[in-house]
Amino acid sequence: MPNTQFRIWRGERGNGGFRDYTTEVTEGMVVLDAMHQIQAEHANDMAIRWNCKAGKCGSCSAEINGSPRLMCMTRMDELPTDKPITVEPMRAFPHVRDLVTDVSWNFEVKKKIRKFRPRTPDAPDGTWRMQQVDVDRVQEFRKCIECFLCQDVCHVLRDHHKHDEFIGPRFFVYSAALEMHPLDTEDRLADLKEDQAIGYCNITKCCTKVCPEHITITDNAIIPLKERVVDEFYDPVVKLVRLFRGKSAKGTRG
Ligand code: SF4
Ligand code: SF4
Ligand code: FES
Repeated sequence: MPNTQFRIWRGERGNGGFRDYTTEVTEGMVVLDAMHQIQAEHANDMAIRWNCKAGKCGSCSAEINGSPRLMCMTRMDELPTDKPITVEPMRAFPHVRDLVTDVSWNFEVKKKIRKFRPRTPDAPDGTWRMQQVDVDRVQEFRKCIECFLCQDVCHVLRDHHKHDEFIGPRFFVYSAALEMHPLDTEDRLADLKEDQAIGYCNITKCCTKVCPEHITITDNAIIPLKERVVDEFYDPVVKLVRLFRGKSAKGTRG
């Protein structure tokens, strides 16, 4: 892959367009390497956000050939070179400059989600007892690197711009990690239904497909949360049981 063509989005605050660059791609390079090379050779002022170059900081999110991906984890030899490779900023967030977007909305959303509230300790020494199966269940949600690629691909944010009403897949994962935690006693179901609009998700699984940590966002987080919302608000028997037992049926339930 000697000389490879790139079409990179350049501009500020949404004003701009694609510009073409050519650079030499060598064995083992990822898209972020190519962007740095173009920066060094042709475009010293090009803005790119990155940090770890190891798929762990979630900073280098962009759209490569139209798909939300991490630039540091996209190998050049995976991409077709018969036409220019397009690299552009995420579309679901306000544009700052070149490949950089302002993702601060996500952190504001996170602050509004009810915090972890553990039950009183199970033993006099202040410790708890948990089933390993319940611990395993929430473990995958902790892998999230907050790259927001799932937020970027979700049509509710990307196309319908429902940022004021809908928290998006990343925060359904976060809510699921809290809601399914075997020690947590907080109840987030009314919030998920009303203020966080989980009903807008139509389970197309686009978010699961783009997650670089392979978190099963839809099947393991969103669908069980939707089921809990339905049980709580639309199933009179479950509602009655919960009324008498409080939020005790956590952990292994759906
Ligand atoms: S499955 Fe739901 S949350 Fe995920 S991208 Fe589709 S609509 Fe958005
Ligand atoms: S759930 Fe996956 S895609 Fe979404 S922010 Fe976390 S790591 Fe990124
Ligand atoms: S630079 Fe950290 S995830 Fe890509």
